[in-house]
Amino acid sequence: TTHKVTLIPGDGIGPEVTAATVSIIEAAAKTTGASFEWHRYDAGADAFAKTGEYIPKELYASIEENKVALKGPVTTPIGGGFSSINVTLRKKFDLYSNFRPVKNLPGLETKFPGIDMVIFRENTEDLYAGLEVMINPDIAQSLKIITRKGSTRIARSAFEFAKKSGRKKVHAIHKANIMKLSDGLFLKCCKEVAAEYPEITYAEHIVDNTCMQLVMNPWQYDVILTENLYGDILSDLCSGLIGGLGLVPGANLGVNCAIFEAVHGSAPDIAGQDKANPTALLQSALLMLRHLDEDATADIIQKALEAVYAEGKTLTRDVGGTSGTKAFADAVIAAM
Ligand code: NAI
Ligand code: MG
Repeated sequence: TTHKVTLIPGDGIGPEVTAATVSIIEAAAKTTGASFEWHRYDAGADAFAKTGEYIPKELYASIEENKVALKGPVTTPIGGGFSSINVTLRKKFDLYSNFRPVKNLPGLETKFPGIDMVIFRENTEDLYAGLEVMINPDIAQSLKIITRKGSTRIARSAFEFAKKSGRKKVHAIHKANIMKLSDGLFLKCCKEVAAEYPEITYAEHIVDNTCMQLVMNPWQYDVILTENLYGDILSDLCSGLIGGLGLVPGANLGVNCAIFEAVHGSAPDIAGQDKANPTALLQSALLMLRHLDEDATADIIQKALEAVYAEGKTLTRDVGGTSGTKAFADAVIAAM
């Protein structure tokens, strides 16, 4: 069968890492016989400049039909303009679970070897929903809404994953000591779900302490279960533990569809210079391939990717190498 995948190259380094990732998937597919049809749509600042729309209507229709998308980062301007395309897509398709595995790559030396944790970030509510108004020119209000439904389903995702993948511990990360009602409800829901999984250790850490714990003793964490904004911040922190934003993949998962994208943004500081590391998007694509039951294709790419890191000769600058995006992608293809 041919998999139809909606492809959103995005802004900044998006088109570069997307091109690299697609070239690697296509090369692997040649050896496994897997087949992909890429339905490509522009979205974001570049799309707006060309078409006057940040998210073209056809893009929504395409995701609705294909149920799977691979997405590069998009630039979200600060202040006015439009609300985040990421937030819009996650809400529109009810992609409530943002899954982000954080694991060292073989051969890549970092301050923290042996990290292997996953983050489950609630993806539709919290302050991240951007429900804001100016009360008057001097007072801004932002609404933090936490629901039983939203909290329970992300907690269930985390515990179901832990159970299926043999993980031992789930930490709910919160600030319920201060936000007693909102984070309190989140925590209450986590605790209720935890009770259904007696074989998995359940613990609660306050988010500021968690930041300290993560840089002192990250090995204590296995599955991190948290709200939207804390998850956003902790994801970048955790990516720093294993070598940076160029590495960590993600999946936005809902009931009916899934959008796979890296944790990082559009990196305007290095865009268009063949400097970006495509590993994070490539690893997001591996999650996508497994989601599509294309494990053979995913395995070939993963082995080649690990071989390139283990050899350490063709790495991008963010992880201490001197190679460009394209040369790195070619090295992965050559290693297959
Ligand atoms: P960023 O994640 O784009 O970059 C932070 C730092 O990490 C920069 O120094 C960048 O060069 C580096 N970096 C990121 N990805 C890299 C890669 N693949 N290879 C090598 N280096 C990499 O965060 P920043 O600069 O705060 O945000 C830029 C824009 O991206 C903003 O408009 C933001 O709203 C947007 N953004 C979009 C996301 C998405 O579409 N999913 C996620 C995060 C931010
Ligand atoms: Mg983020």
